[in-house]
Amino acid sequence: RTVPAVIVAIDGPSGTGKSSTSRAVAEQMGLSYLDTGAQYRAMTWWMVHNGVDVSDPAAVAAVVDKPEIVSGTDPSAPTITVDGVDVSGPIRTPEVTAKVSAVSAVPEVRARITGLQRALAAAAAQGIVVEGRDIGTTVLPDADLKVFLTASPEARAARRSGELKGADVHTTREALIKRDAADSTRKASPLAKAGDAVEVDTTELTLLQVIECVVTLVEEKRAAK
Ligand code: DC
Repeated sequence: RTVPAVIVAIDGPSGTGKSSTSRAVAEQMGLSYLDTGAQYRAMTWWMVHNGVDVSDPAAVAAVVDKPEIVSGTDPSAPTITVDGVDVSGPIRTPEVTAKVSAVSAVPEVRARITGLQRALAAAAAQGIVVEGRDIGTTVLPDADLKVFLTASPEARAARRSGELKGADVHTTREALIKRDAADSTRKASPLAKAGDAVEVDTTELTLLQVIECVVTLVEEKRAAK
C-alpha cells in the first residue's frame, strides 16, 4: 500500500537544533522540507536591500507583496530565491538577523508568508516537515504531528556560536535572548507551543538523538493513518 502523506510541524526558539533536525527527518523519511525562518529572512533581506525602514510597520506593510519569494523544498538541497536571485547566503548576515524580528511581527508580512507556506504544504505529495515558530499553532493547525523543541539558553547560545564559527558566546546569547523575547511577545502569532504538540527538551541530547526521537514520532503517526 502507498505511504500516506504526513504533515509535520516543528516549532521552537533558535539554537534548539530545529533546522538540522527537520531537514534530517525529512531526508530520512522521504518528505519535503520547508524552513519558514528563511522566508522571513528573505523578506527582511529584500526590505533592507530596497531601503525600506523596517522599524516602520506601515512602510513594511505597504510593500509586502512586491518580492517574489520561492522556496525549494528538497531536503537534500533546500533553496531560497527572491525575484530569481539566490539569497541563501545574504539572509544569514548579522544585519538581517537583527532586523528579522521587526519584519516578521508585521501582520501583513505574516499573512503573505503564511499563504506561501500553506500552498507548499498542500503541494507536497509525500508530505512535508515545516519548521518555524507558529507552524503548529497558526500555519498548519491540522498537522499530523507537532513537535516543540526547547533547550536551555546556555545550550542554545553555545550551538549558535558554534554555527557562527567562533562568534562570542556572550554576545550571541544576548542577541538570541532578545530575538526570542521579541518573537514570543509579538501580537501576530507569536512563538508558542501548540496544546497538542510533543515537547522535546534537547539540552542533554545529541543531534542524532533528537533526530531519532522525531523520526520515531513520525513513524508512529504514519502507522496510525
Ligand atoms: O529560524 P530563524 O532563526 O531562521 O528565524 C528567523 C526569524 O524569523 C525569527 O527570529 C522569527 C521569524 N520567524 C517567524 O516569525 N515565524 C516563523 N514561522 C519562522 C521564523
